[in-house]
Amino acid sequence: MDRVNLTPDLSLSRIVYGMWRLGDVDDTSPKTVQAKIEACLEQGITTMDQADIYGGYMAEEIMGAGLTQSIKDQIEVVTKCDILVPAGRYSDVGGKYYDTSRAHILASVDHSLRLMNIDKIDTLLVHRPDPMMDHHETGAALDEVVASGKVRSVGVSNFKLHDWTLLQSAMKTPLITNQIEVSLTAHQAFTNGDVAYLQERNVPIMAWSPLGGGALMTGKGAVQDALSAVASANGVDNSAVAVAWLLAHPANIMPVMGTNNINRIKGLSDALKVNMDRETWFELYTAALGTEVP
Ligand SMILES: NC(=O)c1ccc[n+]([C@@H]2O[C@H](COP(=O)([O-])OP(=O)(O)OC[C@H]3O[C@@H](n4cnc5c(N)ncnc54)[C@H](OP(=O)(O)O)[C@@H]3O)[C@@H](O)[C@H]2O)c1
Repeated sequence: MDRVNLTPDLSLSRIVYGMWRLGDVDDTSPKTVQAKIEACLEQGITTMDQADIYGGYMAEEIMGAGLTQSIKDQIEVVTKCDILVPAGRYSDVGGKYYDTSRAHILASVDHSLRLMNIDKIDTLLVHRPDPMMDHHETGAALDEVVASGKVRSVGVSNFKLHDWTLLQSAMKTPLITNQIEVSLTAHQAFTNGDVAYLQERNVPIMAWSPLGGGALMTGKGAVQDALSAVASANGVDNSAVAVAWLLAHPANIMPVMGTNNINRIKGLSDALKVNMDRETWFELYTAALGTEVP
């Protein structure tokens, strides 16, 4: 498994395991969580993607209960903050909102560390651009959590170029990634500038919902037919081809995979077996567009 260097002393695995859905299954026991993480580690998938809000603010704790010291020594933890919804420890909030204040960021980091039972977060992301963001306050808070040693690096998620440059303009620490939706079902990022500005800055991109949240696997149509043809030529399943399509792009994309199924987790690195030349990439892109490129 390739590694992606984000800072001089931090690299993440090229394929990342996402834990948004970790609490969505009946069995959330520490043993089952360990089995999922160990299946990742066996393939060199060492990076776990979390967020404070996942599972109604419970997924970090579910993961934390499954972390042995040996697992902690082998993984990198990415987590996020700024979304508040009336659930879990925020059940008293009136409605959904974003909070990029210093107080909220500092409190959220402390909650995440405690719930995951770890002593540092490898990468903290601002989950969604906040229309009320005071970039001086938020930027200073992000610098502060890095300076404190609680967080090793910081980035953002779902940011447009203007959100990125605003926040970065008020920070000393470089933002090291933007986690955005990119897949064969959400390919607009390749043409609307979202990938281009990160590619220009050599910022690796984390791609969320790389299987379209499962739609690529359960739907029927031209994309699925195109995926099946490439999959059978390479001896893998359709999901491996969809991931290989992202890995083949020169922007250094890190797909964040969301399956809870242990057998599917064991097969996540099959994407590395796929021969994805330019012509094949465009066959899949054409099927996704529903028309040839102009
Ligand atoms: N930053 C953000 O705003 C943001 C937003 C969304 C997600 N994320 C991150 O991205 C990660 C991945 O998101 P995601 O879960 O939507 O990713 P995904 O990998 O696109 O979709 C996972 C879903 O696809 C299903 N699936 C996978 N293979 C399948 C197959 N062969 N047949 C049928 N269904 C299949 C899975 O079900 P099974 O479990 O049954 O396999 C699961 O429900 C999240 O965990 C989170 O870390 C970030």
